[in-house]
Amino acid sequence: MSSQPFNSSAFQPFSGLYAGKTVWLSGATGFKGSWLAEWLLSLGARVHGYSLRPDTTPALFDQLRLEERIENEIADVRDPAAVRKSIEKAQPDFVFHLAAQALVRYSYEHPLETYATNVMGTAHVLEALRSLEKNCAAVIVTTDKCYENREMDYAYAEEDHLGGHDPYSSSKAAAEIAISAWRRSFFKNHPVKIASARAGNVIGGGDWAKDRIMPDCIRALQAGQPILVRNKAATRPWQHVLEPLSGYLWLAARLYQPLAAPKRLVSPKSDEGGSEGGSTLNPQLATAFNFGPGHGANRTVAELVAEVLEHWPGRWEDQSDPKAVHEAGLLQLSTDKAHALLGWSPVWPFSTTVERTVAWYRDTAANPQTAHALTTRQIEQYQTAAARAHVAWTAK
Ligand SMILES: NC(=O)c1ccc[n+]([C@@H]2O[C@H](COP(=O)([O-])OP(=O)(O)OC[C@H]3O[C@@H](n4cnc5c(N)ncnc54)[C@H](O)[C@@H]3O)[C@@H](O)[C@H]2O)c1
Repeated sequence: MSSQPFNSSAFQPFSGLYAGKTVWLSGATGFKGSWLAEWLLSLGARVHGYSLRPDTTPALFDQLRLEERIENEIADVRDPAAVRKSIEKAQPDFVFHLAAQALVRYSYEHPLETYATNVMGTAHVLEALRSLEKNCAAVIVTTDKCYENREMDYAYAEEDHLGGHDPYSSSKAAAEIAISAWRRSFFKNHPVKIASARAGNVIGGGDWAKDRIMPDCIRALQAGQPILVRNKAATRPWQHVLEPLSGYLWLAARLYQPLAAPKRLVSPKSDEGGSEGGSTLNPQLATAFNFGPGHGANRTVAELVAEVLEHWPGRWEDQSDPKAVHEAGLLQLSTDKAHALLGWSPVWPFSTTVERTVAWYRDTAANPQTAHALTTRQIEQYQTAAARAHVAWTAK
């Protein structure tokens, strides 16, 4: 590492592209959406949120007081007219579609609601985007669970088969198929460019969802109870929430304003692009991208819990239930495409990811007023670490 002092104010993340731009963000009241709204505000964007009311107490959206700081619309993606009206009114330069029923176990209890939200909700956003007559880069968020998981020691790449055992995973695979179909059917010769983003399990401060391992750990630790682990051997590509968000932001930025492409990026292999009509867009960008940690960074749930306990002492108990609903055991992602076409890389190692996450919960538990300061500080720390690592989105 260089001994030169590092001046983080000397670079503009994402080429300064978000300053003054309008961003339509569905799922702004959720865990990832709240972090993304906060990051976009720090980049100078105007954020128009479209989501249901926060459904947890506490909720990061409330802890960050985002209601007062973004233009926030409480509305349903299952309502096509409302989605269209909202996007037409916002006239966004960027769209990030994160709104979803995002929980695997809930999807077993509510499969139709999951499909209505995740499949038809996405189709409603795609339809609304057709009505835009201005340049707009859209990133639609699905998941690494959209692949047909063969539970093998294999890292899924973007061209692998889509599928999914449970209603959540398969709804996201279906959303991916809809995105691909709409892109090919309606978005050639269109000023809106659409990519999809598939990321794995994220952790970070402010996730309060039910049935997710990190919030489960924190709730147990806060109550002085043992952490009950139901799937200790499941292996996931854990990453900090800022990692995929940096990928979404950089993918949208490059869709909006492509760099002069290196030669190897120019000849498209895919038929799905949107470069027709004289656009300078690299057609390989209006496609699907995986965002995940580096090879070898996959850890079991047991390893994650052990790392959490390094920073917040406590204990855990194995609560494996042989009759529990099926959840994927092994899931790994290849991020070679994001490396090659976007110059994107993950930044924080597993140990830093867990340390920052636990610090966020521990410090806000001690003083709830610090949530906003902690969140913005972690965004700055992440940006600085990315610049030190020369990740492409930090280039001057
Ligand atoms: N958290 C993860 O580990 C993870 C991993 C991979 C992919 N994802 C995806 O990232 C996105 C965000 O996930 P999250 O963890 O922030 O989820 P979350 O449950 O915290 O937030 C979901 C958001 O979607 C909104 N929403 C749900 N149903 C809606 C509807 N009918 N109309 C309008 N808004 C609705 C909610 O109001 C909320 O703002 C989702 O698309 C999810 O599938 C999450």
